[in-house]
Amino acid sequence: MGLGKRPRILVIAGARPNFMKVAPILRVMRCRDRFETVLVHTGQHYDAKMSDVFFNDLQIPPPDIHLEVGSGSHAEQTALVMTKFEKVVMDRRPDSVLVVGDVNSTLACSVTSAKLCVPVAHVEAGLRSGDRTMPEEINRIVTDALSDYLFTTEPSGSQNLLKEGKRTDQIHFCGNVMIDSLVFSSDRIKNSTVLRDLQLKNNGYILVTLHRPSNVDNADALRSIVHWLDKLQKKAPVVFPTHPRTRKMFEHHGLQSEIKKLAGLQMIDPVGYIDFVRLMQGARCVVTDSGGIQEETTFMGIPCLTMRDNTERPVTIDSGTNTLIGHDSDRLLSEIELIFAGRYKKGGIPELWDGKAAERITDVFEKVLL
Ligand code: UD1
Ligand code: UDP
Repeated sequence: MGLGKRPRILVIAGARPNFMKVAPILRVMRCRDRFETVLVHTGQHYDAKMSDVFFNDLQIPPPDIHLEVGSGSHAEQTALVMTKFEKVVMDRRPDSVLVVGDVNSTLACSVTSAKLCVPVAHVEAGLRSGDRTMPEEINRIVTDALSDYLFTTEPSGSQNLLKEGKRTDQIHFCGNVMIDSLVFSSDRIKNSTVLRDLQLKNNGYILVTLHRPSNVDNADALRSIVHWLDKLQKKAPVVFPTHPRTRKMFEHHGLQSEIKKLAGLQMIDPVGYIDFVRLMQGARCVVTDSGGIQEETTFMGIPCLTMRDNTERPVTIDSGTNTLIGHDSDRLLSEIELIFAGRYKKGGIPELWDGKAAERITDVFEKVLL
């Protein structure tokens, strides 16, 4: 690298949970101005409410490059990102490619970069659910195997990577960049009018999100969801910002009319980041299968009931407010009773979830790339 030339880092985002992770990293790196950062949007998510809204809410500058891959099967989507991203890497010749999370775009860009001998940095490395039926678990394992710099959010991440043979000098426990976004946005979150707009009372409703294929991709699982949504909306108003995958599945299986009968349920489009965090903050509890939401609720001390058999984020169970429910609606209802009775566990904030993870990540980059 010649004198005065800043190392170039391609920063990848493609799907909803990527935007809140890249936002603080881009902000810190662009502010310090010691690297040239190029934001690449793969286009895995493309609806305005799954993508554009986050650029505004999180004050992310527009992508420098947009691959516009769209939806497809796993192989189709991954292959299209790889094909298009390969040209970008050959053209831009980056010093590193930074990927976040565990979506197909994360996997595709790490494989492409590794094959072109460009060092890969993975933010949110080492998380493991132990469940290889989850597409994200495959993405995590492959991405970490190929990554040179691994940034972990919780101790389990670092331990998993050591067990898988990564060297200690490759692993950097820097904390959770999602929390950076939350802290950064706190004033605007306070000013959100979403509770008033949806006629919800602070601490008086249940927030639901669901989008994992294991929950929404088959008719029996969907019918069970309608069954427990019915019970929940009898207990308290329920608001359910619905992922496009989930909405399509309800429609496909002809369950929209059942949902419409539930008077206490508001099934709405996905909401922007600022309004969504306000919805979490004001909820009596959150019922979800999201990865990121397990962490955000732990940070805010809001009870979170996770409709999955496992989690790759065990710190949210061990020290946070998260409980794994599996798919047992009786268990869900009994935990809801505990919450409404004020007898649910209280959690603490995990180490280094302090709003400064992107600063620490950038410090590491400065050590290894400058
Ligand atoms: C993806 C990630 C998942 C992440 C989730 C966050 C993978 C394998 N999965 O799941 O880890 O938790 O994003 O939201 O990468 N669709 C639209 N509009 C959009 C995007 C998607 O209508 O803007 C619909 C399409 O019908 C598409 C389906 O949703 O086929 C699934 O989208 P996809 O990106 O493949 O997976 P997600 O379920 O969103
Ligand atoms: N989120 C949002 N609007 C919504 C639902 C979620 O802004 O309607 C945010 C949420 O606060 C978190 C992220 O999206 O920051 C989580 O994304 P998602 O649940 O889609 O993916 P996962 O984390 O499960 O991969």
